[in-house]
Amino acid sequence: MSDIARLSFSIEKPLLERLEQLIEEEHYGNRSEYIRDMIRDRLVAREWELNEEAVGTITLVFNHHSRGLTDRLTHVQHHYHDVILASTHIHLDKDLCAEIVVVRGLADRIRSLASELRREKGVLHATLSVSSTGKNLS
Ligand code: NI
Repeated sequence: MSDIARLSFSIEKPLLERLEQLIEEEHYGNRSEYIRDMIRDRLVAREWELNEEAVGTITLVFNHHSRGLTDRLTHVQHHYHDVILASTHIHLDKDLCAEIVVVRGLADRIRSLASELRREKGVLHATLSVSSTGKNLS
């Protein structure tokens, strides 16, 4: 555990009220923990902007009847084997599939993989969720 510093700062009343609302809505026990998490979110966003290493998941939803789509998605993933840790295929119903691709690597490479997968004809929805590998978070 790192040393703890105490700090005080000024904030406009309306902004403080918004902050207190958020803390309540998100069920945080205290203000400090909420602000620490906000800072960590900002650090992760910054790592992502600066093309540092990230971990994440790409979730795709598609209709497996789309001609050649399953093969094309596999083909793209083979080109990015260096950043793909695992992928899981889920049969959602008789037509739709979800595929969750777990990635770790430089932000630009992950972004590029996500956009290639998203652009494949027949992919109905694609989301990318990223986090930090942790070196800046403690
Ligand atoms: Ni399936």
